Amino acid sequence: MHLPDSEKNRMKKITISTLNRMKSAGEKIAVITAYDAGFARLCEEAGADVLLVGDSLGMVVQGHESTLPVTVDDMVYHTAMVSRGSERAFIVADMPFMSHGTPRQALDSAGRLMKEGGAHMVKIEGGEPQVETVHHLTRRAVPVCAHLGLLPQSIHQLGGYRVQGREPHEAERILKEACLLEEAGAQMLVLECVPELLAREVTASLSIPVIGIGAGSGCDGQVLVLHDVLGITPGDAPSFSRDFMAEAGNVQGALEAYVASVRDGSFPGPEQSFQ
Ligand code: KIV
Repeated sequence: MHLPDSEKNRMKKITISTLNRMKSAGEKIAVITAYDAGFARLCEEAGADVLLVGDSLGMVVQGHESTLPVTVDDMVYHTAMVSRGSERAFIVADMPFMSHGTPRQALDSAGRLMKEGGAHMVKIEGGEPQVETVHHLTRRAVPVCAHLGLLPQSIHQLGGYRVQGREPHEAERILKEACLLEEAGAQMLVLECVPELLAREVTASLSIPVIGIGAGSGCDGQVLVLHDVLGITPGDAPSFSRDFMAEAGNVQGALEAYVASVRDGSFPGPEQSFQ
């Protein structure tokens, strides 16, 4: 059967090379969280490039107040479901709180997420203290996404879900840590809740894709929690999110509108960004 190039590209498996090419070409990367096979399929059909099995599932699926209670078993269980529901998306699984205290422990946890869960990459929250772990994992064929800015696993140290990097010394630290994590082998970075200008500077300084959430429109891509996109967040949705269901009126329409708004750069707008 002869398929047009656009159709072939639509069906191709997304890999880290695809995401690197998208960064180089200035094509925005659409990432969304997914926690089960049904939504993985719907998100993929809507055109999402990356499915993030976030430990946010502790809050939006399990009903906890924070992500801290989530276990490696929970993450393996949800990642395996997402893998079964997905055919072409790149799957990133979160390393939950206390699953990466030492490089050895991190390797065991990441191994389970990849072997039992089918993840293509694992995500680790934290800056300089994680450099050794990132190095350890990436030298052993475990692809790593770093995560800087607001770190939900450190919520009790931070004292609340607030914008990070507004003070010049904090911004300098985040930029430096981003470079160190890339040098250690991280192949993607999530930047959460930082001022737009800082996110632009980090994105321009790194050669790996930088995915923002509450980080303005200058990143290489965007991620949102599925429940925020669908307007079904328990409690208040974060100010940087947008309820696409309110605009589209049905699940598939909302997911497609999210992906389209990331691609054309209309999400996030100034009202979902921090200065
Ligand atoms: O756990 C999660 O869903 C995340 C995203 C919010 C980036 O880490």
